Amino acid sequence: MKLDTSKAAAFIGAEAVAKFDADIKAAQSALENGTCEGNDFLGWLHLPSSITPVFIDEIKQTAKVLKENCDAVVVAGIGGSYLGAKAVIAALDDNFSWLKPSDSPRILFAGNNISEDYLTEMIDYLKGVRFGVINISKSGTTTETAITFRLLKKMCEDQRGKEEAKKVIVAITDAKKGAARTTADKEGYKSFVIPDNVGGRFSVLTPVGLLPIAVAGYDIAALVKGAQDMEASCDINVPLEENPCAQYAAIRNALYAQGKKIEILVNYQPKLHFMSEWWKQLYGESEGKDKKGIFPASVDFSTDLHSMGQWIQDGERTIFETVISVDAPNSSLTVPADEENLDGLNFLAGKHIDEVNHMAELGTQLAHIDGGVPNIRISIPKLDEYNLGQLIYFFEKGCGISGLLIKVNPFNQPGVEAYKKNMFALLDKPGYEAESKAIKARL
Ligand code: PA5
Repeated sequence: MKLDTSKAAAFIGAEAVAKFDADIKAAQSALENGTCEGNDFLGWLHLPSSITPVFIDEIKQTAKVLKENCDAVVVAGIGGSYLGAKAVIAALDDNFSWLKPSDSPRILFAGNNISEDYLTEMIDYLKGVRFGVINISKSGTTTETAITFRLLKKMCEDQRGKEEAKKVIVAITDAKKGAARTTADKEGYKSFVIPDNVGGRFSVLTPVGLLPIAVAGYDIAALVKGAQDMEASCDINVPLEENPCAQYAAIRNALYAQGKKIEILVNYQPKLHFMSEWWKQLYGESEGKDKKGIFPASVDFSTDLHSMGQWIQDGERTIFETVISVDAPNSSLTVPADEENLDGLNFLAGKHIDEVNHMAELGTQLAHIDGGVPNIRISIPKLDEYNLGQLIYFFEKGCGISGLLIKVNPFNQPGVEAYKKNMFALLDKPGYEAESKAIKARL
């Protein structure tokens, strides 16, 4: 993975970026020594290097059971218990996998919304399909996931019988507390623990991400290796100018300090759409607090050049872009020559589609810079497990440092409780009687 911050730094000057050096070193030390706010959630920091081959084998063994016994596996989870696995699987999956036969079970994601239509349509599909469930919830009490699991557990038991269902239901949750743990222990499901000190949005390299990714048929050892190598590249002892996480944290905060309040993560590969969704959660939930924080947005180019491109080129100048560029495709296709050349495209004949895509990328970068949009560029050689592992750890560490630079606790999410309190009051959840009347009166 390569990071190029030069074109963004040109907007504000190297000194404006260097101003953050001392704070970055302090943030790195605070993370390393566990002296920062949220220090009970630093388990992600050296997580990659702590993953052993034995642990990877245990995950693979469980994945094998699900693969052998299921044609579909539903991953139930939301937020950090969903987006990491979704991002990696989407980045590696064939764009049209849902139309093609596969050796691995079809992975469905649920428990990430409360849509009656979504759940009904999924259940309709699962009728007559041998399916299993991975129930993921750190707290074990999240409403979206719990409703979904209640439906799926019953359906799976009705379909296979209670004893057989136990073989294909796996829980990933807290070691001791929460309804998901209670149910897993009572029913005797295979279960994995989400470490106490790893928050949801930093948990993709725990079983939360690794098990679904392994069931989907991808190489989790390579994913972990990529993360391990990035952990080494971003170590506290690596000089700042060679440390990509530190560089990224510095440039985005230098831009933020100069009024660039919105960071747009850009990709030129549809497969990276959900990597942006994962990144938005990581940065949004970590930094958006105390009335501070860069707003994380995302676009898929060149698709969105035909929609959001106008705003980015010409709208309010409060944005900067971080582009994830993939050096080479995993396949090969060229533009055909056409004798009649009615569309005038023969100047492209023989060129790879990816070359056209790259020229769109470079042309856009220059246009946006001319339009006043600082551009950061992250490039990876290709879309594979190793490079995704690199990206994951790079963004996690960059986020930890960055949150500390703006003096928030990057590892909590107090703001997400507000909607839950109101929803429970509106639904007459026992214990919410006091709030219920007042909340209902406001509608
Ligand atoms: O990052 C976080 O902590 C959150 O996004 C959680 O992952 C999300 O709310 C789901 O929580 P849980 O895993 O407890 O069901």
